[in-house]
Amino acid sequence: MVSGERSAAGRFAGRSVLVTGAAKGIGRAAVAGFARAGARIVAGDIDGEALRELPAVIPVAEIELVTADVSDPDGARSMVEAAVRRYGGLDVAIANAGIIPLAGILDTSVQDWNDVMAVDGRGMFLTCKYAIEQMSGAGGGAIVCVSSISGLAGQKGQAAYGPAKFVATGLVMHLAVEWAAAGIRVNGVAPGTIRTDRVQALADEPGGPEYLESIARMHPMGRFGEPDEVADAMLFLASDEAAFITGTVLPVDGGYLAQ
Ligand SMILES: NC(=O)c1ccc[n+]([C@@H]2O[C@H](COP(=O)([O-])OP(=O)(O)OC[C@H]3O[C@@H](n4cnc5c(N)ncnc54)[C@H](O)[C@@H]3O)[C@@H](O)[C@H]2O)c1
Repeated sequence: MVSGERSAAGRFAGRSVLVTGAAKGIGRAAVAGFARAGARIVAGDIDGEALRELPAVIPVAEIELVTADVSDPDGARSMVEAAVRRYGGLDVAIANAGIIPLAGILDTSVQDWNDVMAVDGRGMFLTCKYAIEQMSGAGGGAIVCVSSISGLAGQKGQAAYGPAKFVATGLVMHLAVEWAAAGIRVNGVAPGTIRTDRVQALADEPGGPEYLESIARMHPMGRFGEPDEVADAMLFLASDEAAFITGTVLPVDGGYLAQ
């Protein structure tokens, strides 16, 4: 595709895009962003009830809802298969589904570790695996994995979640190299703290609203990011404008990692 050939509004016109963890937060913003850009969407999430609300709250021409668990191989595969069945293929996969348990190592059990590694680790691996299986037989595609500032640098109180986000960063780098010649680009975003329901719920956890405000102040811009701001970076990385970009994890963090 020649640069500029598609208008910004239609730059994903006719393309099939899977978003995992699509029902809330960053995933929901990604669905909205890709829909505005003309994409045909598969929205996958474990929370079927929240997923079913999507078409009512987001203007989207074509959407297929898949209630499934990305940590389960059949679940992750069913999201990719939905794109193939309905749209004839998969052009873009946004591997976003994740859980965000925050605790230091002394308060982290083996079960806590296994839980976060199952979703943020294995789930991301499975989403990439089945997406690449599809894309490799169809001439290419683009994947964006959702890492985190915690997947690029150390933080306090993230003894299991932080290492799980390094899985996303690792998948981006290794799969980008493995699949570059096949026309599959694999990139990531590393959000700082983003104003999603999960983050706002931190006000009810130990530390309360003061803890939440202190996190905002840790970002040089002095505020949380918005889900749309992460979605915009995903759209760029998945678009033809990023045709020579692969293996990159782009911070969307108000300057956090520059400190
Ligand atoms: N919010 C932040 O500050 C922030 C910062 C950095 C990275 N992230 C990452 O962004 C991604 C989305 O986070 P968010 O803040 O939007 O969270 P969220 O909790 O608002 O949304 C996550 C969505 O994923 C779904 N989900 C959870 N487990 C699933 C599973 N096993 N299978 C399918 N769907 C599942 C949930 O039902 C939910 O709809 C996560 O990977 C998270 O690690 C978030």
